Amino acid sequence: MKKILSKIIKKYWFAILMQIIFIGLNIYFLTYPPKIIGNIVDLLYNVEENRNAIMMQIWYLLGICVVLLAVRMPWRWLTGYTPRSIERDLKDKLFEQFMRIKMTSLQNIKNGELMSYFVKDISEIRQFIYRLLSYGTRFVFTVIIATYAMMSGVNVKLTLVTLCPIIVTIFLIIKIKEYVESSFRKSQKYFTELSEYVQESTDAIRTTKAYTGEMNQLKEFIRKNRKLREANNAVDVHSTLLSTCLNICFGLCYGISLLYGSKLVLEGTITTGDFVAFNGYIGLFVGPVTWLPGIISRYKRAKLSYQRLDNVFSLEREKINVKTEDKEDDFKGNIEIKDLSFNYPENIEMVLNHINLKINKGETLGIIGTIGSGKTTLMNLLLRLYPVPNGKIQIDGKDINDIPLLTLRKHICYITQDNFLFSTSLKENIKLFKEGIEDEQIKESTKNAMIYDDIEKMQNGIETIIGERGVDLSGGQKQRVVISRAFLNKSKVVIFDDTFSALDNRTEQMVLNNVKKLVKDKTCIIISNRISDIRDADQIIVLDGGNIIESGTHESLLKEQGRYYNFYKEQTAKSQMALN
Ligand SMILES: Nc1ncnc2c1ncn2[C@@H]1O[C@H](COP(=O)(O)OP(=O)(O)O)[C@@H](O)[C@H]1O
Ligand SMILES: [Mg+2]
Repeated sequence: MKKILSKIIKKYWFAILMQIIFIGLNIYFLTYPPKIIGNIVDLLYNVEENRNAIMMQIWYLLGICVVLLAVRMPWRWLTGYTPRSIERDLKDKLFEQFMRIKMTSLQNIKNGELMSYFVKDISEIRQFIYRLLSYGTRFVFTVIIATYAMMSGVNVKLTLVTLCPIIVTIFLIIKIKEYVESSFRKSQKYFTELSEYVQESTDAIRTTKAYTGEMNQLKEFIRKNRKLREANNAVDVHSTLLSTCLNICFGLCYGISLLYGSKLVLEGTITTGDFVAFNGYIGLFVGPVTWLPGIISRYKRAKLSYQRLDNVFSLEREKINVKTEDKEDDFKGNIEIKDLSFNYPENIEMVLNHINLKINKGETLGIIGTIGSGKTTLMNLLLRLYPVPNGKIQIDGKDINDIPLLTLRKHICYITQDNFLFSTSLKENIKLFKEGIEDEQIKESTKNAMIYDDIEKMQNGIETIIGERGVDLSGGQKQRVVISRAFLNKSKVVIFDDTFSALDNRTEQMVLNNVKKLVKDKTCIIISNRISDIRDADQIIVLDGGNIIESGTHESLLKEQGRYYNFYKEQTAKSQMALN
């Protein structure tokens, strides 16, 4: 994170430098008006004689106003430009990081959390950079330039005495800000909890309605929301304390200046004009000192956000080397699994136990097994979505860990179980990140997946937008859209993970026939709980609790009269009943 942020900041060094220069100039010119007004006051003692000099001073004042305006415009523009640019670059980097993080790390991040990284944390950092660049710099310049003007232009002693309350206040602020900080931390925690809750509740809205849980959800929301309000209230109370402290501070400054300054005027140490100018200089401090607590609390917020982002940025990435991946490769698709055992990081029991398996190019493997038996996990490992122990999976005799990730995933077409569709058009969903695909090819693949007729009936055909903002598809339709991706793919290995479950028997058989044609020269894995999907496979395995408990062909497994035979009997009995 440190590296990323400093790289981004370096990119904008010139804009930052210019902003600092313009702010410096602005503050420098701001010390002129009090001085000029002071001069005018002194000249007013003899208006007749000083008429011309007074007019000169007025022109001088107007000139300074024009210069201030000219300096302010570029500075104001830069104020927004730099932090926004840094924010944009940081968002790009964060999204890239999410795309690259290993699945093992990614699964610990909740959806709501992810949103708050993008919406809240990055914006906290932007706001701090904004405050630091525009207000922080102004604070530093004001303290240096205005104090210098007061000391050299008016009186050193008066300056020191008058600015005493400011120094005391700064120490007070540092104390109070600790309270602000702790209450803010609480408020941020409740904010994340609330946004996660909203995310989950909207995801689960159907289930909630079906189980009439709306009131329970609402009650919980109200409770969380109240907690957030209380935490925010505490932040406000502490902030108010800060601003009161500041008001008292400046009251004291003006009071001291009035008492001690008028004494100096009466003594003749300073002129009335100096005294007027001095009060004008005090005014220059009001803004910057008021901003100080804001900068400090922004710093604290940004620090927390920085730490959260730093945790994300330090998560391990998948190793993808685009340069070496693009080379021609000799991927054929002969898969051999040797004594593979696997467990997800936080699980206690093994998910896969001593799996041994060999699938040759051109062959089809059928996998059947109860839910949770490890079928999808085995496929996740074939795609190296999770770390594979060395030497346990070989493709064309090569350890899977030695095959570049992009090459591996390019050659394996994995039709996943979750039927996830992006909320874009059907066309984009079928093409899925591929370039240079003709509409004709998409049409062909949808025909093969038996979804063509359904799409034709839609008003916008293949351009129909689906998902949250568009048409909702049935489970079976979604499955067929997802299946049609396989027919566009030129990969050497095709995996169907339980992707026929929502199809009716007739459609299923037609899709299967097309799949058979597609995978004639490819390695194919079909995961299904229907015997009819896998009976023609060259090899079938039965998974149970992460173990291969039976393997063979349809005929040999039936002869064994084991678990496969039981599945078969159950399913034929069911279809008999359906026929009767
Ligand atoms: N990402 C994951 N993290 C932890 N455990 C998981 C994860 N995915 C699956 N599991 C667990 O691994 C087991 C096998 O799951 P899975 O391979 O999805 O089974 P199947 O596809 O056969 O239904 C289950 O007990 C499941 O709870
Ligand atoms: Mg599964």
